[in-house]
Amino acid sequence: MLRALGSVLLCCFLLEASFWIPISYGDAITCSGIVPMSYRNDRISITEFGGVGDGKTLNTKAFQKAIYRIQHLRRGGGTLLYVPSGVYLTDSFNLTSHMTLFLAQGAVIKATQDTLNWPLIAPLPSYGRGRERPGGRYMSFIHGDGLEDVVITGENGTIDGQGDIWWNMWRQRTLEFTRPSLVEFVDSRGILISNVIFRNSPFWNIHPVYCSNVVIRNVTILAPPDSPNTDGIDPDSSSNVCIEDSFISTGDDLVAVKSGWDEYGIAYGRPSSYITIRRVTGTTPFAGIAVGSETSGGVENVLAENIVVYNSGVGVSIKTNIGRGGFIKNITVSEVFMENVRTGIKVSGATGDHPDNNFNPNALPNVNNVILKNIWGVKVQRAGSMQGLKDSPFTGICLSNVSLQGTAGLRPPTWKCSDVNGAAIEVSPLPCAELASPPQQGGSCAIHL
Ligand SMILES: *[C@@H]1O[C@H](CO)[C@@H](O)[C@H](O)[C@H]1NC(C)=O
Ligand SMILES: *[C@@H]1O[C@H](CO)[C@@H](O)[C@H](O)[C@H]1NC(C)=O
Ligand SMILES: *[C@@H]1O[C@H](CO)[C@@H](O)[C@H](O)[C@H]1NC(C)=O
Ligand SMILES: *[C@@H]1O[C@H](CO)[C@@H](O)[C@H](O)[C@H]1NC(C)=O
Ligand SMILES: *[C@@H]1O[C@H](CO)[C@@H](O)[C@H](O)[C@H]1NC(C)=O
Repeated sequence: MLRALGSVLLCCFLLEASFWIPISYGDAITCSGIVPMSYRNDRISITEFGGVGDGKTLNTKAFQKAIYRIQHLRRGGGTLLYVPSGVYLTDSFNLTSHMTLFLAQGAVIKATQDTLNWPLIAPLPSYGRGRERPGGRYMSFIHGDGLEDVVITGENGTIDGQGDIWWNMWRQRTLEFTRPSLVEFVDSRGILISNVIFRNSPFWNIHPVYCSNVVIRNVTILAPPDSPNTDGIDPDSSSNVCIEDSFISTGDDLVAVKSGWDEYGIAYGRPSSYITIRRVTGTTPFAGIAVGSETSGGVENVLAENIVVYNSGVGVSIKTNIGRGGFIKNITVSEVFMENVRTGIKVSGATGDHPDNNFNPNALPNVNNVILKNIWGVKVQRAGSMQGLKDSPFTGICLSNVSLQGTAGLRPPTWKCSDVNGAAIEVSPLPCAELASPPQQGGSCAIHL
């Protein structure tokens, strides 16, 4: 599987190089090959189905009719649904397989704020309940379940969640169910999201869950820093997910790799694996690149590289908790630049809440083989903390070529460690004793450095 992915990437990168003219990315490695290119000969426009982009007309019926047409009048190669310039107000809607949702320049698909009539769907089995309220959860604004070969793209048109009404319900504690994500794909494969701006999501922005072969590239995700839980992209119990060349500025983690919650996630047992994140830049009061805290199905084979995090809470965060079970292993984060962050690197075994009181306190996560290398930070208030669990110490935590500088005139940042072991090479400020072992005694660390 691992070898297969590697060769697909190499093959298609080389193949594509002959006709893809790299403009701003040079010959940088890309997500190409994970989702095949879909050229749609059949093209329809939302205006043919009564769509009106005046910002006032409700377009729910138009989107439903257009997508019904794509689903039932199946054309070989699938169908492109064109959304021209204009503001198209609509309730949430479902996509279908073999379609491209194309947002032209100046096109905005805007969510209504009709929270009372927002459809409810079942909780995800790996969460057992809604993430923030018990029971079901509101369906995402744009939703896909059991689909394949779906593209959301265009000329930087916007998908606007108008989330402020939901954020206020959260603040006022009047939410009955868990808020809707902006775009969610459940149990789907062959998903490509590119060249779209996502704005003001009610909750998480892009949530692929139980999916495989997902590419998210060249997207812009924006929500105010005080908007609650507006994570940028959350690959969840999904495999072969590739995220690149994107800018994210939100109120919660920019990218957070997850895999279910405590006893429900353990029972469901679906890991997130082969997740690539590269050339992502952004700012958030929480973490830039995160794994967790819901990791009960396991998270493995994550590579994050060429990441820029500024004016943020934490640069890189690996977080889990007792009751989670599962594992976090083979995580590599490299080539990270951070500026003006409170904490550079945070590895924690005591983060996040529980779905209910039935979590098993003996279900301890297994964290092993986390490589953090070539990390450069300035104006970092605290270098970081690495706190494993007494009964399940985190092993193979490796820091290499990490330099975190404080704000001029302030005390240099320091590390805080407990229940972790691993190695540290060329780390400034000097690493904590737990990580100071020479590399030849660093177990898996030595192999990777
Ligand atoms: C949309 O998809 C959800 C989840 O699969 C389903 O519960 C709902 O009935 C669908 N809505 C429509 C209008 O088809
Ligand atoms: C689209 O967005 C990308 C990424 O943010 C940006 O680089 C590009 O200039 C935008 N293109 C257009 C046509 O606005
Ligand atoms: C990213 O967006 C820019 C501007 O719209 C475009 O020129 C470029 O080809 C896009 N890159 C990819 C990989 O889609
Ligand atoms: C670890 O993950 C990386 C990145 O996904 C992958 O290339 C590598 O083969 C994995 N290593 C093992 C031993 O599975
Ligand atoms: C150390 O990390 C910095 C910042 O990512 C990078 O520019 C530099 O090349 C790295 N040095 C080595 C020896 O890899």
